[in-house]
Amino acid sequence: MHLSRWRSGALVWVLPFLFAAVAVACGGAAHTAEPTTTRPPTPTTKTEDVHMNADDFHNLHTMTHVRGFYVTNVLGHLDATLAVARSPNGGQYPTGTLLQLVPQEAMVKHRHGYDPTTNDWEFFSLDVSAQGTKIVTRGGQAVMNRFGGSCASCHSAANPKFDLVCEHDHGCAPLPIGDDVIRAVQNADPRPVSH
Ligand code: HEC
Repeated sequence: MHLSRWRSGALVWVLPFLFAAVAVACGGAAHTAEPTTTRPPTPTTKTEDVHMNADDFHNLHTMTHVRGFYVTNVLGHLDATLAVARSPNGGQYPTGTLLQLVPQEAMVKHRHGYDPTTNDWEFFSLDVSAQGTKIVTRGGQAVMNRFGGSCASCHSAANPKFDLVCEHDHGCAPLPIGDDVIRAVQNADPRPVSH
């Protein structure tokens, strides 16, 4: 890990992440996430699906802000994605949905049947800079956040009607940081807004 990569981020957010990453590395914790170069399994049906590359991720402020998070649909089904995101009753997100809370993490909805253990979501840990986005890890249960928690495990606690979306009151364990820190990290997204 290059320290220079972190300097431009909000220090208050980055430092605990850095410590957590070092702790994981030193502890030799199992790291079974797919390497960046591995592509997700090719769908066996002709059903529409999404295949994310690093270039498909952009500054959060190019996405639509819904309450505390950012949404888009990389297959062009933004209206269908927004209908679920804005509904007080939730719903199942359409294929191609991309959700982000912070620039460094993302979840993407695949075709039905892609991964029953994650309700067809693929989770990403990202490295962002002024140059753009790099995918650090991607996949299902094995993808961890900077605090050492499995994205899928924590998000699976959400009430099923919200399709693994946590927000503040859907049943997930809370993040160890407050809304003010999250807001600062969102606003510190180093990637260009136009692409
Ligand atoms: C310990 C539990 C936990 C872990 C682990 C976790 N999250 Fe979350 N996540 C939350 C909570 C709680 C929120 C809502 C926070 C808020 O609204 O301020 C959230 C919000 C989000 C959102 C915005 C939509 C939503 O669900 O509210 C995305 C996208 C997201 N997380 C992706 C990830 C990814 C990707 C990972 C792994 C790299 C991850 N999360 C790891 C608890 C977790």
